[in-house]
Amino acid sequence: MATTRSASALDPQFVRAQFPAFSEPTLQGQAFFENAGGSYACGAVIRRLTEYYRRLKVQPYYAFAASAEAGEWMDAARARVGEYLGVPAGEVQFGPSTSQNTYVLAQAFRTVLKPGDEIIVTNQDHEANSGVWRRLAEHGTLVKEWRVDPLSGCLDVRQLDDLLTPRTRLLAFPHASNIVGHVNPVADIVARAHAAGALTVVDGVSWAPHGLPDVRELGADVYLLSLYKTFGPHQGLMVVSPRLLEQLGNEGHYFNAREPFKRLVPAGADHAQVAAARGIAEYFDALDAHHYPGADPLRRPHRVREALRAAELPLLAPLLEFLRSRGDIRVLGPTRAAERAATVAFVPQSLEPEELGRRLARRGFMIGHGGFYAVRLLEAMRVDPARGVARISFVHYTTAAEVQGLLEALEASLQG
Ligand SMILES: Cc1ncc(COP(=O)(O)O)c(C=O)c1O
Repeated sequence: MATTRSASALDPQFVRAQFPAFSEPTLQGQAFFENAGGSYACGAVIRRLTEYYRRLKVQPYYAFAASAEAGEWMDAARARVGEYLGVPAGEVQFGPSTSQNTYVLAQAFRTVLKPGDEIIVTNQDHEANSGVWRRLAEHGTLVKEWRVDPLSGCLDVRQLDDLLTPRTRLLAFPHASNIVGHVNPVADIVARAHAAGALTVVDGVSWAPHGLPDVRELGADVYLLSLYKTFGPHQGLMVVSPRLLEQLGNEGHYFNAREPFKRLVPAGADHAQVAAARGIAEYFDALDAHHYPGADPLRRPHRVREALRAAELPLLAPLLEFLRSRGDIRVLGPTRAAERAATVAFVPQSLEPEELGRRLARRGFMIGHGGFYAVRLLEAMRVDPARGVARISFVHYTTAAEVQGLLEALEASLQG
């Protein structure tokens, strides 16, 4: 069996001390490998959330002290999380979830699209960045599908060039699929779409927990993530370029049409959760200060994203090596660590994914199973969506010892 290397750019003790879940008695003895469904929340977020509820739970942005401070916390959350995404506060929009955000965005895009316009969607996406766009066909939009290779599950950029035409107005695609994990070359794809005159909506939900990207560098017109998977509260976040926001329809109350943060969030903001999102940035600040004291603060987002990835890669490689070495497993997506996120789905041939999950749970390992709302992708790869896949997903706070234990538990569980 492959053994894990412990080389990590991060101090695991410090990292885990920032997550109350690791000292929670009811979670002891269980290693968490279902992070792609929702990560543990960092202490800074939990502290902000509880303090907000205790001290600031009033309507924000009035003159009285608690209200003014509540508003300041919300503004700070936009600014601070925006720093880590390489964009100003004005481009950071919070909404209830990514599924809700894409739903509203798709409605808002109806003002941009004329009958006969074309959009491109993929069959690699989670349904949240697929179905809502496909439904625009009901309004006369021509919907084209950029399809994965059925064996690898990967998208080939050269095929995109054949789909783009002068009528393409929008391309929706994932940064990384929540099943296949392949890291798509986002900046290149966006550049190709822009060269053809198309806008881009990038689902970064699966990628963001492995290092919040610099959205400005990627160039996406909309970049989506879900904060409950990036150590934060249950909120979706969308970076929307100001140029696009102006073109999109107002989906909020008509009298709020000039309010940038109200146009795309008809549900209204969840004040406490928006305010608590600032804790994610504070956690990253602490991580950076601990590992790189005195380093240039302007480079902090870059350092943090590199450090998260560097902590994961040495653990991802042996996991993939183990899965690849077995004849009774089909790994979905690349088996080279550098090409994928630490979200690894596979089909065990000798037992049901659900049963594998049960066996691992008995041994103290938490994993997920099912279709993960990527039904189109599973069908394209000839995987029965009803049976689904087993999925192991981890992030920078996972240790080499946990991965080593998981490999041993997997070996035993696959045998019976
Ligand atoms: C890749 C991907 N996109 C979108 C979503 C939907 O996110 P939300 O739960 O915030 O609606 C998920 C959720 O699992 C996901 O994994």
